[in-house]
Amino acid sequence: MNDHVSDPLLALSPWRSPEVTSWRRLPMNAVDRRAGAHSLDGDWRFRLLPAPDAPVGGDWSSAAVPGVWTMQNVQGTVDLPRYLNIRMPFPEFPPLSPDANPTGVYEREVDVPADWAGRRIVLQVGAAESVLLVHVDGRPVGLSKDSRLAAEFDVSDVLSPGRPSVVRLTVVKWSDASHIEDQDHWWHGGITRSVLLYATDPLYLADVDVRASAEGELRVDCRVRDAGGALPAGWYVTGELDAPDGPDGPGGLTLAQDAEFDLANAEDDRVSAFLGEARLHARVPEVRTWTAETPELYGLTVRLHRADGSVADASRHRVGFRDVTIVGRDLLVNGERIFVRGVNRHDFHPLTGRTVSVEDMRADLVLLKRFGFNAIRTAHYPNDPALYDLADEIGFYVVDEADIESHDHAHEIADDPRYLNAFVDRVSRMVLRDKNHPSVIVWSLGNESDYGANHDAAAGWVRRHDPTRPLQYEGAAKRGWADPHVASDIACPMYAPLEDCVAHALSGLQTKPLIQCEYSHAMGNSNGTLADHWAAIEATPGLQGGFIWEFWDHGILQSVNDGRPVGRGGAGLYDNGVTAPGYRWAYGGDFGETDHDGAFIADGVVLPDRTVKPVMYEHRELAAPLRLRGFRHEGLVLSNHQHFRGLEWLAGEWELSLAHGGTLTAAADLPDLRPGETAVVPLPFELPADGGEAWLTLRVTTAEDLPWAPRGTPVCAPQVRLRAAEPAGAPAVSGRVETDAEGLLVHPLLTSSPTLSLWRAPTDNDELGGMALRWRTWGLDSLVRKLVSVRQEGDGVTVLSEYAATAGVVRHRQVFTPVEGGVRVDEQAELPEEFDDVARVGTVFETVAGLDLLEWFGQGPWESYPDRSGGAPVGHHRVPVDELFTPYLRPQESGGRHGVRRFTLSAPDATGLAVTLDEPRQISVTRYRAEDLTAASHHDELVPRAGCVVHLDAAHRGLGTASCGPDTFPSYLVAPGVHRWSWTLRVL
Ligand code: GAL
Ligand code: MG
Repeated sequence: MNDHVSDPLLALSPWRSPEVTSWRRLPMNAVDRRAGAHSLDGDWRFRLLPAPDAPVGGDWSSAAVPGVWTMQNVQGTVDLPRYLNIRMPFPEFPPLSPDANPTGVYEREVDVPADWAGRRIVLQVGAAESVLLVHVDGRPVGLSKDSRLAAEFDVSDVLSPGRPSVVRLTVVKWSDASHIEDQDHWWHGGITRSVLLYATDPLYLADVDVRASAEGELRVDCRVRDAGGALPAGWYVTGELDAPDGPDGPGGLTLAQDAEFDLANAEDDRVSAFLGEARLHARVPEVRTWTAETPELYGLTVRLHRADGSVADASRHRVGFRDVTIVGRDLLVNGERIFVRGVNRHDFHPLTGRTVSVEDMRADLVLLKRFGFNAIRTAHYPNDPALYDLADEIGFYVVDEADIESHDHAHEIADDPRYLNAFVDRVSRMVLRDKNHPSVIVWSLGNESDYGANHDAAAGWVRRHDPTRPLQYEGAAKRGWADPHVASDIACPMYAPLEDCVAHALSGLQTKPLIQCEYSHAMGNSNGTLADHWAAIEATPGLQGGFIWEFWDHGILQSVNDGRPVGRGGAGLYDNGVTAPGYRWAYGGDFGETDHDGAFIADGVVLPDRTVKPVMYEHRELAAPLRLRGFRHEGLVLSNHQHFRGLEWLAGEWELSLAHGGTLTAAADLPDLRPGETAVVPLPFELPADGGEAWLTLRVTTAEDLPWAPRGTPVCAPQVRLRAAEPAGAPAVSGRVETDAEGLLVHPLLTSSPTLSLWRAPTDNDELGGMALRWRTWGLDSLVRKLVSVRQEGDGVTVLSEYAATAGVVRHRQVFTPVEGGVRVDEQAELPEEFDDVARVGTVFETVAGLDLLEWFGQGPWESYPDRSGGAPVGHHRVPVDELFTPYLRPQESGGRHGVRRFTLSAPDATGLAVTLDEPRQISVTRYRAEDLTAASHHDELVPRAGCVVHLDAAHRGLGTASCGPDTFPSYLVAPGVHRWSWTLRVL
């Protein structure tokens, strides 16, 4: 039998009809039906068809719901994940999709509980991509598009208690809708969120709209319907508001139906026999307001009563009292100008693709909160509903973004009337679902879809429906950051050069808050100049922050043997970002695709298992709620850098790091400071008279257990230098130095002698920004050393050599002088003018095996680079060599430490070597040569060397963000000309 002919849902070919966004789908609403629902999650019978109209014959296998078949290794599944950024994965123009169109058919028996007899029964499919067709016992029930929002269908007529039915969900992967779901992430197919059934009384709450202002004004609008059509007489609503401390705490209120609203409705005839509207209204005295810093949530229960007082339906909500306004060019929360320390977040998991559990989402938000983030843009679609509950609870500002990205065909679609319905549908459904969340402070119309009439239509709907929140859309803002006529209340560019943002803010022409929707692209070893950005943002009225791109490196755990995703059950196969032997983090191209965008999918501040990248430590410091601003009047200046709360949730400890000594600590009493206030506190230590460099750090932790951090969790570690280093005298000459016939240093602990290095394994920024290509063209990756002369001079040896590259010659001089216990090396390199921007100028050598611990005085303990070193305080640090390296998905320069004054590399018996540098320098100690990293595409190809590869850099180029956005600033570039550096190597 051909289902296509006989089934009206299939016969319409809805996957080729952008005008058709749904059929018999219930309106979206904000009534949470998860509690008391009957879950249909679990294993379903599953068939993968080659096309939606192919016959459903043959053998069934099974697939987990929720889940994407592309990750589940379902028997016979040949449809694997695919990564493309902008380009569509098929050549058809909108609204067409390919005939070869994987279609998943999911089936299972459903038994409705006996006590649901006579009730209204609703099937909710949390999310399915990209077209969902629903049948029960072969009868068409409904259809839906809009892959990141739930679809609900009334199944009262087709399901009945006591009679098992077969529910079939058909999920068509490619459709007209795929053209507006062209976001930069993996393409999958399946049902990504939970499926459930719930029942209500025929008389039910169709929607509840809660508005709660910072002044304590509460307004709850209820829409009431009856499944029978006409509403029964005499129904009414009541409410109960529990204060944040719970129903027994003080401040609760009972809410009665607003009689004036009823009267007004009666007069203008808005209440009909079919649609009931009622309002609860109250003013909450001494209201505790909601902000991301103070996420105070009241509990609201709304009850719908029948005339006899019995309860027909009830709905629970959490309410945050807060205002969002734009005044002039400032975005205000409760009247305060806030800083937006945001990140873009996808629903992602390395084992399940897009299906994320509540625990996963909580872990994401807890981590972000611990690293100073206060805002999330749900890039680029409405995220799982639980995310918003968590954001309300843990405290995040959310820019809620509609599921519209037509990147590849943006221009055609923005004004295509066939897609008009889809635009308004997607934006309005998001607003209807998420309107009651205090965390949502801004609506976004979508991403990278040009700007057209379809956007203005959607914007019009939002402005009418929810005048309480601003609206943003990058595509509209692009038409003019200050243009009042475009559909964006915020100037929200992506990757705008910092100087352009500052210039706009200073131009006198700014009319809207400037908050970048994406900036500081986190691909690989990146996020250079973040501190410069924040210095400018905090110093420039009109700039309020932005959203880092992005949270996740979307690597999928893959078995190298069979090339398939591991799927659920692979949890034990990775740790700290590193995969077990035989597995790797897959990116574009790893599933056999020829057309793909490679590692561009790995551009987050966390690795695929949520291990933080080093940039997170800098971010945490930049977001510090408490700042240490140096000396004044013999004291230290402390300031509260928050918007809404004091310092009572913080505890502090002073730490004094002495170059000539160790580390001293002392308890710190934090002053009582309101937001923006400053206090001067006395110096907690007397400095020893040893003349050495001294640094004071205030280690700040949480003082109590918080929902996102146990007591003692690090919050920030602001630092000031109390005393600079005094110039050290030259060490006395002693002993002799040995060099070989090539003028290379001979040393018992070195397996490879110190030579000049101008190359680093290109970072993603170096590659995509074009620098690596230039360096290769110059030949910096394959320098050929030629000895010019070796001269014994006094007690030392002077070695002159030339390093020939294709485009020039670098003259290099090393002077080896024997000193007590070792050798002093004075180096000079002369870069020709042509080499006007190189990765590094410095020394590289390799050590014998067994020196596995690095201890240093300098910045740390985590990885840092010249333009990404803000969160690495100066102190005494020790880290095993194997833990110094960050396993960025595509191997590249990694493991650097900035501002290092001296270090030791030692074996467990404390033997080893010590290096003292002439001034704070960039160093790295890894198991890999730059060429090893350059040659590898994934970590499983890397073979660690037994010894250490040590780089000491006279100069090291900043990282920037050029893989997508601005490069580093000129001050972080390595200039041509003469570079000089010296260091001393001793045996421990
Ligand atoms: C932006 C886009 C994101 C992502 C990013 C690059 O243009 O909005 O979705 O593609 O660039 O990683
Ligand atoms: Mg895009």
